Amino acid sequence: MTTHMDNGIKTAFQAFSILIFLLQLPNHLAFRTNNEPWLTTTETKPTPTPWPKQFHALLYMNLTTTHLQLSDLWYDWPKGRNVNIFQKQLGIVLYDIEWNNGTSFYYTLGDNAQCQTVDFGVGIPRPDFLDGAHYLGRVVTDGFLCDVWEKVDFIWYYEDVVTKRPVRWDFYDGISSHVMTFEIGAVLPDSVVQAPAYCFTEPADENASSTLAKV
Ligand SMILES: *[C@@H]1O[C@H](CO)[C@@H](O)[C@H](O)[C@H]1NC(C)=O
Ligand SMILES: *[C@@H]1O[C@H](CO)[C@@H](O)[C@H](O)[C@H]1NC(C)=O
Ligand SMILES: *[C@@H]1O[C@H](CO)[C@@H](O)[C@H](O)[C@H]1NC(C)=O
Repeated sequence: MTTHMDNGIKTAFQAFSILIFLLQLPNHLAFRTNNEPWLTTTETKPTPTPWPKQFHALLYMNLTTTHLQLSDLWYDWPKGRNVNIFQKQLGIVLYDIEWNNGTSFYYTLGDNAQCQTVDFGVGIPRPDFLDGAHYLGRVVTDGFLCDVWEKVDFIWYYEDVVTKRPVRWDFYDGISSHVMTFEIGAVLPDSVVQAPAYCFTEPADENASSTLAKV
C-alpha cells in the first residue's frame, strides 16, 4: 500500500519533470543524503502539516543554475485540479492545468499558441501526500527556521516551525520552489482553467503535438 501511494505521489508530481522535458530545459542533479551536516535534530519527530484543501501560492522557482520562473499555484482539492501558471524569466507564460482524472493540459495563449495534453493516469497530489515522509530535522532556509522532511527520494519539504506554512520544496531533479505568498482558501475562477479550443482539435500531423517542445 505504501508503495502504491508512493508511486502515486511521484506520478502526481511528474508534471514538473514532463515540463522540463517538453521545454527541453537542461537539468541538474541534486546530490543529497539523509544526514545533511546543516541539519539539527530535535527530540520529537514532528509530522508535516497537510496542504489546505484550497490555496493560492506564488512560487519563485529555480529550475537550474541558469533558469528561473514564477508560478501561480492554485491547488484545489474539492474541484479536483492543480493549476500552475508559469512565467518563464523573460519568456513565455505557460498554463499547466492538472485534473484529478489524470489529464493535464499545457498551453500558451496568443501568437503561436500551443497546447499539449498529457494523460498521467493518476490524479493530483492529495492534501496528505506528505504522510509517511521521513523527518530530517531543522534548518534555516530562506531565513525561516523550518522542519524538513524527505519522501521517497523525490521531494524535500521545508515547513516553517512557527506558522506551519510551507517555505520551500525541492524535487529530486533539482527544481527548487520557494513560497512567496500562501493564501489559504483562495480559489481560481473556473473560467481561467478552461483549456482553449486548440487543445481539443486533432493535430494536423503527427509532429504537431510535440511543437510545444520547441517553444
Ligand atoms: C539556483 O540554484 C542553484 C543550485 O542550487 C544555485 O547555485 C543558484 O545560486 C540559484 N539561483 C538563484 C537565482 O536562486
Ligand atoms: C478530465 O477532466 C477535464 C476537465 O473536466 C476534461 O477536460 C478531460 O477531458 C478529462 N479527462 C478524461 C480522460 O476524462
Ligand atoms: C515530422 O517531422 C519530421 C522531421 O522534421 C519529418 O521528416 C516528417 O515528415 C514529419 N511528419 C509529418 C507527418 O509531417
